[in-house]
Amino acid sequence: MAEVDARQLPALARAVSDNAHAPFSRVRVGAAVLSEGGKVYTGCNVESASYGLTQCAERNALAAAVADGALPGSLIAMAVYANGFAVLSPCGACRQVISELMAPGAEVTSCCDNKESRTWTVAELLPYPFVLE
Ligand code: THU
Repeated sequence: MAEVDARQLPALARAVSDNAHAPFSRVRVGAAVLSEGGKVYTGCNVESASYGLTQCAERNALAAAVADGALPGSLIAMAVYANGFAVLSPCGACRQVISELMAPGAEVTSCCDNKESRTWTVAELLPYPFVLE
């Protein structure tokens, strides 16, 4: 994808949510993450009939970035979109992985189908992340 800036991330997150596989919850989530080089990676939620195997949009976007060679700390912004009228707060598992791959000061913005949005830094989302020494 062509180089983008952080202001474009919410629209990209919303667009990729169209590809969500969410037959069980009907919650369609999209995430778009930006590298310091201006590359964007997207992901959507993928549910499974074995519910616990469900994959979240945020971690799928981060996995796409890693597969492309993005280094930990090089991901500077993320947007998350969920259909409906409530701002999604990223789940705990996603917060852990976000904290491992994004800079502590990077911003994560969550938006939905109205004008509401919320922005947190990575450190605000997970103040005391698990780290391996
Ligand atoms: N989901 C995400 O994609 N990201 C989150 O941070 C929380 C939840 C998805 C998983 C499931 O497909 C649906 O939302 C309802 O939980």
